[in-house]
Amino acid sequence: MTTIHTAGELDFQITELPELPPFDSVAMADPRDFDVEYAINPHMLDANGQLQKVDRVRAREQWEALRETLVGCGMKVEVEPALDRHPDFVFCANPGLPIPAGVLGDRPRWVPSRMASDRRAGEVEYWSGVFEGRGWKVEPLQGAAERFEGTGDGLWHPKRRLLWGGVGTRTSLEAWEELAGRYELPIVILGLRDPDLYHLDTCLAPLDERSCLWRPAAFDEDGQALVRALFEDPIEVSEEDAKQHFACNAFAPQPKGLQAPHVVVIQEGATRTRAELKARGFQVLEVETNEFLKSGGSVFCMKLAFASHEAPS
Ligand code: ARG
Repeated sequence: MTTIHTAGELDFQITELPELPPFDSVAMADPRDFDVEYAINPHMLDANGQLQKVDRVRAREQWEALRETLVGCGMKVEVEPALDRHPDFVFCANPGLPIPAGVLGDRPRWVPSRMASDRRAGEVEYWSGVFEGRGWKVEPLQGAAERFEGTGDGLWHPKRRLLWGGVGTRTSLEAWEELAGRYELPIVILGLRDPDLYHLDTCLAPLDERSCLWRPAAFDEDGQALVRALFEDPIEVSEEDAKQHFACNAFAPQPKGLQAPHVVVIQEGATRTRAELKARGFQVLEVETNEFLKSGGSVFCMKLAFASHEAPS
């Protein structure tokens, strides 16, 4: 398989793709050391160009509330303890990509990231250890890809054997080319062009097989055409909802036995997006992640979703 760059290259329908197990589990990382100590995206600086100031007590409360919300949705939630000297550790979607069982053989795999910033490199090693300990195969990139930020730029199409791959300041195309070949996986490439929406998970949130939240202006022309071609109902998010409220960093949990209507967990205040979701029958659960928005992250990247399927013994 190779990467897919234009809608003209599509020779399948989503419903023809093999099914994958639901991502019914999430890992979260203790926010004890969460802070803004450096700026590696525009959100980390305030209007005066100074590092944002985090209220650690509020951050803890917001993180706990998110954890409870995800548990309440029926997700299995596992928490890893804080990692010293890693203020971005809480954004555990970024240090790697889970390849669920069934994509290649019956054992899940973990592809460690190559973080764009050295400040986050230690997180990668930590998470590789966690998944190795669970019996997953850890399979680092072998090729020349300069950058790769896991589930920040790699989003699985809900329940289908298809990956969406963002290419921009955090992930290089070479990473997706290598993974498409290695796992014989179709990977739809989306070029990112808005510095404020620097990860794919800040401008695209797949909700179910047919719908997603997205900010069209964040993508190049080919990317826009691909989203429109593969999602029956791509829900457009306004600039304000996307950038002020990180609406496209929403998360649609897939607990075991999920029945419609689906739940969408989203940062509060994205009023237009909320109305669009409700009009389609989604149950909208709003959470406050304001302290984490100061670092350029919200609901989606504060957890790492995967399928609970364990390795066969
Ligand atoms: N401060 C972190 C960074 O810039 C935030 C990461 C948020 N993650 C995300 N997928 N949007 O790396």
